[in-house]
Amino acid sequence: MAAEAKAQTELNDFKSLFSLEGKVVVITGGSRGLGLHAASGFLQAGASKVYITSRKAAACEQACAALNALPNKRPGAQAISVPADSAKIADVEGLVKKVKETTDHVDILFANAGATWGEKFDTHPDSAFAKVMDLNVKSVFNTIRLFAPLLQNNATMEDPSRVIVTASIAGLGVGSLGENATFGYSASKAAAIHLTRNLAVELGPRHILCNSIAPGFFPSKMASGLMDLQGGAEKMAQGNPNGRLGRPEDIAGAVVYLASRAGSHCNGACITLDGGALWSRGRL
Ligand SMILES: NC(=O)c1ccc[n+]([C@@H]2O[C@H](COP(=O)([O-])OP(=O)(O)OC[C@H]3O[C@@H](n4cnc5c(N)ncnc54)[C@H](OP(=O)(O)O)[C@@H]3O)[C@@H](O)[C@H]2O)c1
Repeated sequence: MAAEAKAQTELNDFKSLFSLEGKVVVITGGSRGLGLHAASGFLQAGASKVYITSRKAAACEQACAALNALPNKRPGAQAISVPADSAKIADVEGLVKKVKETTDHVDILFANAGATWGEKFDTHPDSAFAKVMDLNVKSVFNTIRLFAPLLQNNATMEDPSRVIVTASIAGLGVGSLGENATFGYSASKAAAIHLTRNLAVELGPRHILCNSIAPGFFPSKMASGLMDLQGGAEKMAQGNPNGRLGRPEDIAGAVVYLASRAGSHCNGACITLDGGALWSRGRL
C-alpha cells in the first residue's frame, strides 16, 4: 500500500511540468492584445523563439522589441517579427517560408488573429460577414494546414506539438445582438471551436494536439468599441460573476498550460476564460 501511494504521488519532474524550455512558437495576431500577452507568457516559460506575425510590420517590430527586453526570458531567446496577412493564402505561404529560414520545426502554433464586425440584422453587410468568416475560420484552417509539416517535424507521442486557436465565448453562447450585432463573428467563433475539435482528431495521430480558448472580454483594441457600447470597462467588470474583466496573465496562464507537458493529454478541448460570464447570461 505504501509503495502504491508512493508511486501515485511521485510525479515525473513536477518542476518542469509547465516549462516550455527551448520551444519554438508562432503567433498570428501577435503584435498586440491577446497574442502579445501569450507571447510574453511563452517567452517567460522558456521558449527559445517566438515568431510574431500580423499585417503591420512596424507593429510586429515594436512588439518584438518589447518582448526582447523582457528580463526573465531564457538566455538567447528571441522574438522575431514576420509580418503577413493571415487572410491571404499567399501571405501565409510566405510566412511559413520565412519561418523556415531560421528553424526546421515549430512546436507551438497560436492561431489567434481575428476580426469582428458589429451591425444590426437588417443591414448586416455580406462583405463584413465574409471578411470575418475568412479570417476567423478559413485562415485558421489554412494556417494550421500550411504549418503542419513544421509542427510534425519534432513532434512525438511523449512530446507532441500544439495548436491553440483563439475562439470566444461568443462562439459558445449568443454574441452581441441589436444595433451592433456580431452574427458573423459569433458564427465564426463557433466554427473555430468545432474546426479545432475536428483537427484534434485528424492531427492527434501526427502528434499535433489542437485546442481552443474562448475568452470573455479582455480590454484590447478590438474589444474597446463593444465594451464602450456596453457601458465601459468598469460597469462590465462589475457585472461579471468574478467581478473583473480578463487580464494578460489569464491568457498567458492558459496558453502555457495548453502548450506544456501539463496540457499534453488535452486535445479537442475549449477552455473558457471569462470569469463565468457565459453562464450568467439570461439570468433572471
Ligand atoms: N479582446 C477580447 O475581449 C476578445 C474576446 C474573445 C476573443 N478574442 C479574440 O482574440 C483574438 C485577438 O484579439 P484582440 O482582442 O487581442 O484584438 P487586437 O488587440 O485588436 O489584436 C488583433 C491582432 O490581430 C492582428 N490582425 C488583425 N487582422 C489580421 C490579419 N488579417 N492577419 C494577421 N493579423 C491580423 C492585429 O495586427 P495588425 O492590425 O497589424 O494586423 C493584432 O495583432 C481575436 O481572434 C479575437 O476575436 C478577443
